[in-house]
Amino acid sequence: MLLSDKNNQKSEKKLPQHIAIIMDGNGRWAKKRALPRKAGHKAGAKALEGIIEGANEMGIRHLTVYAFSTENWKRSEDEVSAIMDLLRQYLKTYFTRFQKDNVRMHVIGDISRLDQDIQEQIIEIEKLSADKDGMTVHIALNYGGRDELRRGITVLAKRVEEGKLRAEEITEEMISNVLDTAGVPDPELMIRTSGEERISNFLLWQLAYSEFYFSEKLWPDFTKEDLEDAILQYCGRERRFGGRLTESNEVK
Ligand code: FPP
Repeated sequence: MLLSDKNNQKSEKKLPQHIAIIMDGNGRWAKKRALPRKAGHKAGAKALEGIIEGANEMGIRHLTVYAFSTENWKRSEDEVSAIMDLLRQYLKTYFTRFQKDNVRMHVIGDISRLDQDIQEQIIEIEKLSADKDGMTVHIALNYGGRDELRRGITVLAKRVEEGKLRAEEITEEMISNVLDTAGVPDPELMIRTSGEERISNFLLWQLAYSEFYFSEKLWPDFTKEDLEDAILQYCGRERRFGGRLTESNEVK
């Protein structure tokens, strides 16, 4: 967000309210260590724990992470099942650990294709954390931007079919409101790790005006300090003057 002071003499960006992350590079991290891919995902899930903690400490309001895409089903059965097991374990870990910090947990994506027990766990965790008013962590599971738009468009098309809405009255706001992120401000900053520079079907509608930050680090190596660097770059590195983020959410 660009801010000008009264005299219009300087402008600076405030902390992003919403950061989206494509957590890429788990497989390569494991390969470098001659470990199975699932060890990379496990290290990735641990790294996410640190990033949730860091983002919350820095005062970020929404963090959306791409944990499993609609395309990820094409991976080997063994790898998919390892990621699902990590989900079972870590959804609980994140929820338990960050409850005291007032963190709300929310899942985006079409969860109907996930195993029944995971669906139940998601519903439970979302319900139990619904009253938290700190940061919200949105975990994208069986998520694809095109699929999300397709599901949203179906909702609007039904309203037209039922005569409740005229097609030409559809606004951008109505579209935003039928997406999984309804009510959540669009991300100001999107981070992708591992040196890849693609959107890969992530938040296609919501990233329309976002700043992109690409890190060479593999996701399991991405730390709170890396997150802070990404935010500082977003805010404008020339304003850093060797400083770090302050408690008042300003760049010093
Ligand atoms: C990309 O790395 C990562 C994924 C497809 C899955 C992300 C999963 C996690 C961070 C762990 C599980 C998450 C939770 C919430 C428990 P890649 O496998 O595409 O890496 P590569 O490009 O190096 O092969």
